[in-house]
Amino acid sequence: MTHGGRAAGGPAGESPAAGNDATREGASPDAVTGVVPGAATGTPGTTRILAGDDPASVAEAAAAIRAGEPVAFPTETVYGLGADALDPSAVARVFELKARPRFDPIIVHLADAADLPRYAIHEDASDPRVAALAARFWPGPLTLVLRRREVVPGIVTAGLDTVALRVPAHPVALALIRESGRPIAAPSANPFGRVSPTRAEHVVRQLGGRVRIILDGGPCAVGVESTVLFLARGRAVLLRPGGLPVEEIEATIGPVDRLDDDAPEAAALSPGRQASHYAPGARVQLIDPWPGPDLAVASGERVGVLAFDDAGRRAAEFAAGGPFAAESAAGRPFAAVEVLSHGGDPTEAAAHLFDALHRLDAASLDRIVAQPVPETGLGRAVMDRLRRAAASH
Ligand code: TXA
Ligand code: MG
Repeated sequence: MTHGGRAAGGPAGESPAAGNDATREGASPDAVTGVVPGAATGTPGTTRILAGDDPASVAEAAAAIRAGEPVAFPTETVYGLGADALDPSAVARVFELKARPRFDPIIVHLADAADLPRYAIHEDASDPRVAALAARFWPGPLTLVLRRREVVPGIVTAGLDTVALRVPAHPVALALIRESGRPIAAPSANPFGRVSPTRAEHVVRQLGGRVRIILDGGPCAVGVESTVLFLARGRAVLLRPGGLPVEEIEATIGPVDRLDDDAPEAAALSPGRQASHYAPGARVQLIDPWPGPDLAVASGERVGVLAFDDAGRRAAEFAAGGPFAAESAAGRPFAAVEVLSHGGDPTEAAAHLFDALHRLDAASLDRIVAQPVPETGLGRAVMDRLRRAAASH
């Protein structure tokens, strides 16, 4: 990708079923009108993609943050849409841009774990488990939910008495937080319910024309969102599996409770979980066991495959196309094929998941068939996202 203040158009006329590549390289800088699926508000304008490793770009983005304007920026997990966490109007703009329901609280990003006591009450900030986790995993893909101090605006926490805090491990994110001098409230930079962005181009495709500045920091190394851990009132509850495997957390602080979506306390502890998430335009089917009869492709139907590994891809092509499929042209009878990790590594699969979903989203498919991923390490986070994507249609 090229850098240097390149202007990009908005996702003109994008429909949920047909992704739009016109906003990528070579797009007309004027093509800034259009409706982002799920993002209902905001006046389309020009989006600029700035090089995240250029201090002048970071300074410009930091000035925008201080002025109350949302900015898209890279983290090691996914791209975030950030605003000054202490400015309720700036945070309100983030909710509007994403069309995010106000009941879903936002993570506050800090440059340094030493800043945590400013935002969490003393009892939680001084919890030895917090110190142990911060020392071991920050900066990194772990979010801690602690009881908040008054300084955190209610819009950030959706009225909860807790705040989610994390120190991201991306030099551009850290530079932006430091340069702005503010804690940055940032959800993933996608319209609510859609696939999270792991490249600046994904942000352009989904929010182009709505956000004025995107800092480009290249592809996100982890590729799935942070692990969210509730650590207040003496409890430890996994609210969202993510980029840090829960096994590593348990090796540091002991057993962590899991939270089922239908658990009575799920809504109170984690209000964002109930809503549909991670949905590409096409219907997603998680096929378990793989391969299964649902891999059959009807005549005229455009089906995309999201395979975990090469063996899964071969099995799908064989199952769908019969004995001749193995010798046939790549992908046939499928319209698109994505393999998350050729050798079957869940960590690599996590890194490629959203990128693959964005490509499938751009392929005008009727249906996406997804292979289950082994639920160890980051495989849990991948399966969590695939189940939610499948449940949302
Ligand atoms: O990796 C990430 O976490 C990315 C990057 C940008 O940092 N951010 C991200 O934000 O994924 P978002 O808004 O898409 O997801 C935040 C999750 C939501 O499920 C939200 O409900 C939960 O964190 N959350 C935030 N504050 C919370 C709180 N006080 N209590 C419980 N859950 C909270
Ligand atoms: Mg999100």
